[in-house]
Amino acid sequence: MAGYLTSDTRKVTTHRLTEMKQRGEKISMLTAYDYTMAQIVDGAGMDVILVGDSASNVMAGNVTTLPITVDQMIYHGKSVVRGVKRALVVVDMPFGSYQADLSDGVRNAIRMMKETHADALKLEGGEEFVDVFRKIIAAGVPIMGHLGLMPQSINKYGTYGVRAKEEAEAEKLVRDAHLLEEIGCFSVVLEKVPAELAARVASELTIPVIGIGAGGGVDGQVLVVADMLGMTKGFSPKFLRRYADLNTVMTDAIGKYVADVKSCDFPNESEQY
Ligand code: KIV
Repeated sequence: MAGYLTSDTRKVTTHRLTEMKQRGEKISMLTAYDYTMAQIVDGAGMDVILVGDSASNVMAGNVTTLPITVDQMIYHGKSVVRGVKRALVVVDMPFGSYQADLSDGVRNAIRMMKETHADALKLEGGEEFVDVFRKIIAAGVPIMGHLGLMPQSINKYGTYGVRAKEEAEAEKLVRDAHLLEEIGCFSVVLEKVPAELAARVASELTIPVIGIGAGGGVDGQVLVVADMLGMTKGFSPKFLRRYADLNTVMTDAIGKYVADVKSCDFPNESEQY
Protein backbone atom coordinates (compact mmCIF):
# COMPACT_ATOMS: atom_id res chain seq x y z
CA MET A 1 0.00 0.00 0.00
CA ALA A 2 1.27 3.48 -0.85
CA GLY A 3 1.71 6.30 1.62
CA TYR A 4 2.80 6.66 5.19
CA LEU A 5 2.13 3.53 7.17
CA THR A 6 3.22 3.69 10.77
CA SER A 7 4.28 0.49 12.52
CA ASP A 8 3.11 2.08 15.78
CA THR A 9 -0.39 0.73 16.26
CA ARG A 10 -0.93 2.20 19.74
CA LYS A 11 -4.03 4.36 20.08
CA VAL A 12 -3.22 8.06 19.65
CA THR A 13 -4.04 10.07 22.77
CA THR A 14 -4.04 13.80 23.50
CA HIS A 15 -0.91 13.20 25.59
CA ARG A 16 0.86 11.54 22.64
CA LEU A 17 0.08 14.58 20.46
CA THR A 18 1.91 16.79 22.96
CA GLU A 19 4.86 14.36 22.89
CA MET A 20 4.87 14.56 19.09
CA LYS A 21 5.11 18.34 19.27
CA GLN A 22 7.94 18.09 21.81
CA ARG A 23 10.00 15.85 19.56
CA GLY A 24 9.17 17.88 16.43
CA GLU A 25 7.07 15.18 14.74
CA LYS A 26 4.33 16.75 12.60
CA ILE A 27 0.74 15.71 13.32
CA SER A 28 -1.49 14.54 10.45
CA MET A 29 -5.21 15.22 10.67
CA LEU A 30 -8.02 14.72 8.16
CA THR A 31 -11.80 14.80 8.29
CA ALA A 32 -14.07 11.76 7.90
CA TYR A 33 -17.82 11.53 8.34
CA ASP A 34 -18.65 7.85 7.81
CA TYR A 35 -17.49 4.34 8.72
CA THR A 36 -16.01 3.30 5.37
CA MET A 37 -13.95 6.46 4.90
CA ALA A 38 -12.85 6.38 8.56
CA GLN A 39 -11.46 2.84 8.09
CA ILE A 40 -9.46 3.98 5.06
CA VAL A 41 -8.16 7.16 6.70
CA ASP A 42 -7.21 5.32 9.91
CA GLY A 43 -5.62 2.46 7.98
CA ALA A 44 -3.42 4.95 6.09
CA GLY A 45 -1.81 6.04 9.37
CA MET A 46 -3.65 9.28 10.23
CA ASP A 47 -2.94 10.64 13.72
CA VAL A 48 -6.21 12.54 14.21
CA ILE A 49 -9.57 12.10 12.49
CA LEU A 50 -11.87 15.09 12.69
CA VAL A 51 -15.59 14.55 12.37
CA GLY A 52 -15.91 18.14 11.20
CA ASP A 53 -19.11 20.12 11.01
CA SER A 54 -17.99 20.50 7.38
CA ALA A 55 -20.23 17.40 7.14
CA SER A 56 -22.92 20.05 6.72
CA ASN A 57 -21.32 21.05 3.38
CA VAL A 58 -19.75 17.78 2.26
CA MET A 59 -22.41 15.26 3.30
CA ALA A 60 -25.60 17.33 3.33
CA GLY A 61 -24.90 19.91 0.60
CA ASN A 62 -25.56 22.96 2.78
CA VAL A 63 -23.86 26.24 1.86
CA THR A 64 -22.54 26.75 5.42
CA THR A 65 -21.80 24.66 8.51
CA LEU A 66 -24.59 26.36 10.47
CA PRO A 67 -27.54 24.02 9.84
CA ILE A 68 -25.98 20.78 11.12
CA THR A 69 -27.44 19.59 14.45
CA VAL A 70 -26.11 17.81 17.54
CA ASP A 71 -28.08 14.68 16.54
CA GLN A 72 -26.53 14.70 13.06
CA MET A 73 -23.00 15.21 14.45
CA ILE A 74 -23.61 12.31 16.84
CA TYR A 75 -24.67 10.11 13.91
CA HIS A 76 -21.47 10.98 11.97
CA GLY A 77 -19.31 10.68 15.11
CA LYS A 78 -20.61 7.20 15.98
CA SER A 79 -20.12 6.00 12.40
CA VAL A 80 -16.51 7.21 12.33
CA VAL A 81 -15.59 5.83 15.77
CA ARG A 82 -16.76 2.34 14.67
CA GLY A 83 -14.24 2.43 11.81
CA VAL A 84 -11.19 3.65 13.77
CA LYS A 85 -8.59 1.62 15.66
CA ARG A 86 -5.61 3.97 16.08
CA ALA A 87 -6.38 7.64 15.37
CA LEU A 88 -7.61 10.11 17.96
CA VAL A 89 -11.22 10.93 17.00
CA VAL A 90 -12.35 14.53 17.51
CA VAL A 91 -15.96 15.61 16.88
CA ASP A 92 -17.03 19.21 16.18
CA MET A 93 -19.65 20.75 18.44
CA PRO A 94 -22.08 22.34 15.97
CA PHE A 95 -23.28 25.92 15.78
CA GLY A 96 -25.74 26.72 18.56
CA SER A 97 -24.84 23.77 20.77
CA TYR A 98 -22.65 25.73 23.21
CA GLN A 99 -22.90 29.44 22.35
CA ALA A 100 -26.26 30.24 23.94
CA ASP A 101 -26.18 28.83 27.43
CA LEU A 102 -23.48 27.44 29.69
CA SER A 103 -25.30 24.41 31.08
CA ASP A 104 -26.73 23.63 27.65
CA GLY A 105 -23.18 23.59 26.28
CA VAL A 106 -21.92 21.25 29.00
CA ARG A 107 -24.94 18.94 28.58
CA ASN A 108 -24.48 18.81 24.79
CA ALA A 109 -20.74 18.11 25.17
CA ILE A 110 -21.37 15.27 27.62
CA ARG A 111 -24.08 13.82 25.39
CA MET A 112 -21.81 13.96 22.34
CA MET A 113 -19.02 12.15 24.21
CA LYS A 114 -21.39 9.53 25.72
CA GLU A 115 -23.15 8.71 22.47
CA THR A 116 -20.27 8.89 19.95
CA HIS A 117 -17.49 7.35 22.11
CA ALA A 118 -15.17 9.92 20.52
CA ASP A 119 -11.95 10.97 22.25
CA ALA A 120 -12.44 14.75 22.22
CA LEU A 121 -14.52 17.65 20.93
CA LYS A 122 -13.56 20.71 18.87
CA LEU A 123 -15.13 24.11 19.55
CA GLU A 124 -14.73 27.40 17.69
CA GLY A 125 -14.02 30.60 19.58
CA GLY A 126 -11.75 32.40 22.05
CA GLU A 127 -12.20 34.68 25.06
CA GLU A 128 -15.97 35.03 24.49
CA PHE A 129 -16.51 31.33 25.20
CA VAL A 130 -13.92 30.48 27.86
CA ASP A 131 -16.55 30.02 30.58
CA VAL A 132 -18.30 27.21 28.75
CA PHE A 133 -14.94 25.74 27.59
CA ARG A 134 -13.75 25.63 31.22
CA LYS A 135 -16.93 23.86 32.37
CA ILE A 136 -16.73 21.30 29.58
CA ILE A 137 -13.07 20.57 30.38
CA ALA A 138 -13.91 20.36 34.11
CA ALA A 139 -16.52 17.73 33.20
CA GLY A 140 -13.68 15.62 31.77
CA VAL A 141 -14.03 16.39 28.07
CA PRO A 142 -10.80 17.20 26.17
CA ILE A 143 -11.22 20.26 23.94
CA MET A 144 -9.43 21.19 20.73
CA GLY A 145 -9.88 24.93 20.13
CA HIS A 146 -10.41 26.55 16.73
CA LEU A 147 -9.35 30.15 15.94
CA GLY A 148 -8.74 32.28 12.86
CA LEU A 149 -11.44 31.70 10.26
CA MET A 150 -14.30 30.17 12.22
CA PRO A 151 -16.90 29.02 9.67
CA GLN A 152 -19.70 29.03 12.27
CA SER A 153 -19.28 32.85 12.36
CA ILE A 154 -19.39 33.29 8.57
CA ASN A 155 -22.45 35.53 8.78
CA LYS A 156 -20.52 37.87 11.07
CA TYR A 157 -17.45 38.01 8.78
CA GLY A 158 -19.36 38.00 5.47
CA THR A 159 -16.40 36.36 3.69
CA TYR A 160 -14.21 33.22 3.83
CA GLY A 161 -11.09 35.40 3.32
CA VAL A 162 -7.86 35.16 5.32
CA ARG A 163 -8.31 36.29 8.96
CA ALA A 164 -6.03 38.21 11.31
CA LYS A 165 -4.18 40.16 8.64
CA GLU A 166 -4.58 43.36 10.68
CA GLU A 167 -2.57 43.82 13.87
CA ALA A 168 -5.53 44.14 16.25
CA GLU A 169 -7.12 40.87 15.10
CA ALA A 170 -3.74 39.14 15.06
CA GLU A 171 -3.00 40.22 18.65
CA LYS A 172 -6.45 39.03 19.78
CA LEU A 173 -5.80 35.68 18.11
CA VAL A 174 -2.48 35.31 19.95
CA ARG A 175 -4.18 36.22 23.27
CA ASP A 176 -7.02 33.78 22.59
CA ALA A 177 -4.59 30.98 21.75
CA HIS A 178 -2.73 31.52 25.05
CA LEU A 179 -6.03 31.62 26.91
CA LEU A 180 -7.14 28.32 25.37
CA GLU A 181 -3.86 26.74 26.47
CA GLU A 182 -4.21 28.20 30.00
CA ILE A 183 -7.72 26.83 30.51
CA GLY A 184 -6.61 23.35 29.46
CA CYS A 185 -7.38 22.85 25.75
CA PHE A 186 -5.10 20.08 24.46
CA SER A 187 -4.65 21.57 20.98
CA VAL A 188 -5.77 24.45 18.74
CA VAL A 189 -6.69 24.58 15.06
CA LEU A 190 -5.76 27.77 13.20
CA GLU A 191 -7.72 28.24 9.98
CA LYS A 192 -6.74 30.60 7.15
CA VAL A 193 -4.37 32.97 8.92
CA PRO A 194 -0.99 34.34 7.74
CA ALA A 195 1.79 31.73 7.99
CA GLU A 196 4.04 34.01 10.04
CA LEU A 197 1.34 34.57 12.67
CA ALA A 198 0.52 30.85 12.86
CA ALA A 199 4.21 29.98 13.28
CA ARG A 200 4.48 32.53 16.09
CA VAL A 201 1.50 30.99 17.90
CA ALA A 202 2.91 27.47 17.47
CA SER A 203 6.27 28.55 18.88
CA GLU A 204 4.71 30.31 21.89
CA LEU A 205 2.32 27.50 22.87
CA THR A 206 3.28 24.15 24.38
CA ILE A 207 0.09 22.47 23.06
CA PRO A 208 0.04 21.39 19.39
CA VAL A 209 -1.21 23.92 16.83
CA ILE A 210 -2.82 22.33 13.77
CA GLY A 211 -3.16 24.49 10.66
CA ILE A 212 -5.44 24.64 7.64
CA GLY A 213 -4.30 27.39 5.32
CA ALA A 214 -1.88 28.49 8.03
CA GLY A 215 1.46 27.55 6.47
CA GLY A 216 4.12 25.01 7.41
CA GLY A 217 5.37 26.53 10.65
CA VAL A 218 2.71 24.88 12.81
CA ASP A 219 2.73 21.46 14.49
CA GLY A 220 0.40 19.66 12.12
CA GLN A 221 -1.98 19.98 9.18
CA VAL A 222 -5.66 19.27 8.63
CA LEU A 223 -7.65 19.11 5.37
CA VAL A 224 -11.18 18.13 4.40
CA VAL A 225 -11.02 14.60 3.00
CA ALA A 226 -13.37 15.17 0.05
CA ASP A 227 -11.32 18.18 -1.05
CA MET A 228 -7.86 16.57 -0.83
CA LEU A 229 -9.10 13.46 -2.64
CA GLY A 230 -10.51 15.61 -5.45
CA MET A 231 -14.10 14.45 -4.91
CA THR A 232 -15.38 18.02 -4.70
CA LYS A 233 -15.17 20.39 -7.65
CA GLY A 234 -15.10 24.16 -7.85
CA PHE A 235 -13.44 24.67 -4.45
CA SER A 236 -9.79 25.53 -4.97
CA PRO A 237 -8.36 27.68 -2.19
CA LYS A 238 -4.61 28.32 -2.40
CA PHE A 239 -3.89 26.08 0.60
CA LEU A 240 -5.58 22.98 -0.84
CA ARG A 241 -3.34 20.27 -2.29
CA ARG A 242 -5.28 17.61 -4.22
CA TYR A 243 -3.78 14.13 -3.81
CA ALA A 244 -6.15 12.41 -6.22
CA ASP A 245 -8.83 13.13 -8.77
CA LEU A 246 -11.51 10.84 -7.37
CA ASN A 247 -14.26 12.85 -9.01
CA THR A 248 -12.99 11.73 -12.43
CA VAL A 249 -12.20 8.18 -11.26
CA MET A 250 -15.68 7.76 -9.73
CA THR A 251 -17.55 9.39 -12.61
CA ASP A 252 -15.73 7.13 -15.12
CA ALA A 253 -16.45 3.99 -13.09
CA ILE A 254 -20.11 4.86 -12.56
CA GLY A 255 -20.48 5.84 -16.21
CA LYS A 256 -19.06 2.42 -17.24
CA TYR A 257 -21.56 0.68 -14.96
CA VAL A 258 -24.44 2.64 -16.52
CA ALA A 259 -23.22 1.67 -20.00
CA ASP A 260 -22.79 -2.01 -18.99
CA VAL A 261 -26.32 -2.18 -17.56
CA LYS A 262 -27.79 -0.51 -20.65
CA SER A 263 -25.88 -2.81 -23.03
CA CYS A 264 -26.77 -5.97 -21.01
CA ASP A 265 -23.03 -6.59 -20.46
CA PHE A 266 -23.64 -6.59 -16.69
CA PRO A 267 -24.28 -9.02 -15.10
CA ASN A 268 -22.64 -11.81 -17.11
CA GLU A 269 -22.95 -15.54 -16.41
CA SER A 270 -20.25 -15.61 -13.76
CA GLU A 271 -21.96 -12.74 -11.93
CA GLN A 272 -25.26 -14.57 -11.39
CA TYR A 273 -26.52 -17.50 -9.28
O1 KIV B 1 -15.27 21.16 10.00
C1 KIV B 1 -14.12 21.05 9.55
O2 KIV B 1 -13.84 20.31 8.59
C2 KIV B 1 -13.07 21.83 10.20
C3 KIV B 1 -11.72 21.83 9.57
C4 KIV B 1 -11.75 22.69 8.37
C5 KIV B 1 -10.67 22.25 10.52
O3 KIV B 1 -13.30 22.44 11.19
